[in-house]
Amino acid sequence: MSLTVAAALCCVVVVVLGGLPLSSEAQLDPSFYRDACPKVHSIVREVVRSVSKKDPRMLASLIRLHFHDCFVLGCDASILLNNTDTPTKIDSEQQAFPNVNSIRGLDVVNQIKTAVENACPGVVSCADILTLAAEISSVLSGGPDWKVPLGRRDGLTANRTLANENLPGPSDGLDRLKSAFKNQGLDTNDLVALSGAHTIGRARCTFITSRLYNFSNSGKPDPTLNTTYLQQLRNQCPKSGSGNDLVNFDLTTPDKFDKNYYTNLQGNKGLLQSDQELFSTSGADTISIVNKFASNQDVFFAAFKASMIKMGNIGVITGKNGEIRKQCNFINKKSAEVDLASVVSKETSSSEEGMVSSF
Ligand code: HEM
Repeated sequence: MSLTVAAALCCVVVVVLGGLPLSSEAQLDPSFYRDACPKVHSIVREVVRSVSKKDPRMLASLIRLHFHDCFVLGCDASILLNNTDTPTKIDSEQQAFPNVNSIRGLDVVNQIKTAVENACPGVVSCADILTLAAEISSVLSGGPDWKVPLGRRDGLTANRTLANENLPGPSDGLDRLKSAFKNQGLDTNDLVALSGAHTIGRARCTFITSRLYNFSNSGKPDPTLNTTYLQQLRNQCPKSGSGNDLVNFDLTTPDKFDKNYYTNLQGNKGLLQSDQELFSTSGADTISIVNKFASNQDVFFAAFKASMIKMGNIGVITGKNGEIRKQCNFINKKSAEVDLASVVSKETSSSEEGMVSSF
């Protein structure tokens, strides 16, 4: 190949690559707020720390909130939007089945936002606050820390239907769990690592009663449940109970972020069916990953960090798209009006040119 041909090819490659959108990963940056809000991490940390002193479970709730945000329209704080009719109709994700009477921490996020706005008004997105709160919660409960890539912007809408479709359920089998994660660009290793967040927090009895009393309509308990643990859970979740009582995910160290989630699975003491599936599905490729994390906490922590960063990159909005919400539960009215105005003016100008057919 002559030098000129090589140089020309090189230019073509540069031009083609230059035309591709950068991956969302490349657009986020841990030092995004270095100039505009240098203390953001410590401000978020202080609120989370003080709330969690009185309510240790909040650390679990905040990690989960970030997960439930990212799996629906990406990590855009869509989960925080309340129902509204104007200026844009929002069907809040908070009423989707996996969230209703279940997600916690919305008020804490607002508390954080207020503290952040006091220091640096109009700069930090609610989506980044959710991500930072998740990392800080991991650290405060004894889990790993990592440099959180930042620079997400807040979305302008929410989608309850997608929340119902995309979020995995506690009775899902392994194939469904894998595909729910795959749909978000996450692989089997991510599934097993991120499920490790169930080393802290609680679940309501309603999610395990069929496992305890009538698994798959068999009239019997889930055969994969350790019998001593089964008895313990039956005491905590009586057959005729309301279903709203709470059970610890990790029976040994309920508020400590450690690798016990995986040792529990090895002992058939996973709380949800979806947890135990990772270890008890015969021949599954997840078994060796569970064993690996159970035998070495450092390996689990490294994987958890990497997968949290990967999850935090799902569908992020950056640059000039979206907005920085003033209040996390509502889109900024002004920006909605501006959007609407620009759509109307585009439609008017196009139809003036006779480009748009009526429909
Ligand atoms: C793999 C599929 C998953 C399923 C089926 C699942 C399901 C559930 C369910 C049913 C609850 C209890 C909710 C309630 O009682 O109201 C729960 C709680 C929780 N989930 Fe998951 N989850 C999954 C993955 C994840 C992931 C990826 C994370 C985070 C990275 C996570 C973090 C949590 C935490 C920390 C709690 C406790 C929350 C609290 O105590 O407030 N989960 N999950």
